[in-house]
Amino acid sequence: MRKPAKNKWAKGENKKHIIEQRKFLWEPEYVALLAKWVGFKLGQTVIDVGCGLGYLGTLYWPYFGKGGKYCGVDVSPKLIAQAKRLSMDWAKGGKTEFNVGDSYKLPYPDNSADVVMCQTLLMHLADPQKAINEMYRILKPGGAILCKEPDNLSVSMQHALTSMPEFTLEEELFRHKISFIINRGREVLGMGNYNTAPFVPLWLKKAGFRGIDARMNSYPILGIPPYETPKQEYERNGREKDIKSGKKIKGKRKRTREFKKLFMAGGGSVEEYEQYLSFDRKYRSREKMYKKQIEEKSYYFFAGSMFFAIKGHKPK
Ligand SMILES: C[S@@+](CC[C@H](N)C(=O)[O-])C[C@H]1O[C@@H](n2cnc3c(N)ncnc32)[C@H](O)[C@@H]1O
Repeated sequence: MRKPAKNKWAKGENKKHIIEQRKFLWEPEYVALLAKWVGFKLGQTVIDVGCGLGYLGTLYWPYFGKGGKYCGVDVSPKLIAQAKRLSMDWAKGGKTEFNVGDSYKLPYPDNSADVVMCQTLLMHLADPQKAINEMYRILKPGGAILCKEPDNLSVSMQHALTSMPEFTLEEELFRHKISFIINRGREVLGMGNYNTAPFVPLWLKKAGFRGIDARMNSYPILGIPPYETPKQEYERNGREKDIKSGKKIKGKRKRTREFKKLFMAGGGSVEEYEQYLSFDRKYRSREKMYKKQIEEKSYYFFAGSMFFAIKGHKPK
């Protein structure tokens, strides 16, 4: 098993991310549709791999919890301890079990779950196929898998659709190239692939799953003044919080060091890196404008969240 100390999800900004970013990630009515689509039934045993704080449990519990069992497994002992505490609120005395464990060697016997699910786990793994093979092993024949993963490379092409000044064509293409190089660097260094979703159906097929199908998240990321829906207000407030938080600056510096490492590992050249730095300086000069728009509540943004739900079943 990996050393828990290396896991970044149990603290600081990352932990905040798996709490904050989940608030409006999936629309409740759409979760009901997805639950039906996957085939959740009351009384089932459901295993959530890389469960973090048990977010997927909170979403799907109403569809299997009565008479059923939720098992959350995560490599981080800290998150598992907290997920267990939080489950008292949503499982309300129903059966739950929490285990520290690695997705490459799941602590469950063969054919033991009716549904196995994961969210934003595969995108962080060096060998997602190995994890999916394990999920296949622990599923009962006829059982279902649900993977929720993003395609963040497509998202990188969408940033121009805001109230900020447009980039030139060359700048847009360069920005996308940078995202591509960084994503490749991530893969080369064994840190996963943020462009995961399009690969998941292929990985499922290779593991032996059938009936593979996919859906997109129903929520675009929209904020149009005066931000009249709770989600829009939440998105704007999130941006304001980011601006106000002193931690962000520290985090930024850290990201810059990591960025160079990823850039070089992804096959970026020294010239391209220099070009990136001057582009970044120009980009940062826009920050003042961004800050002003957020403060005066005139900022407009619209982008697809490019989050997908992918399912399959283990043949009987
Ligand atoms: C982005 S978080 C997602 C958490 C949760 N699924 C959610 O959507 O809120 C990724 C989670 O995967 C866990 N993780 C990373 N590598 C893992 C591994 N090899 N085995 C099990 N869990 C792992 C992390 O500790 C973290 O909790």
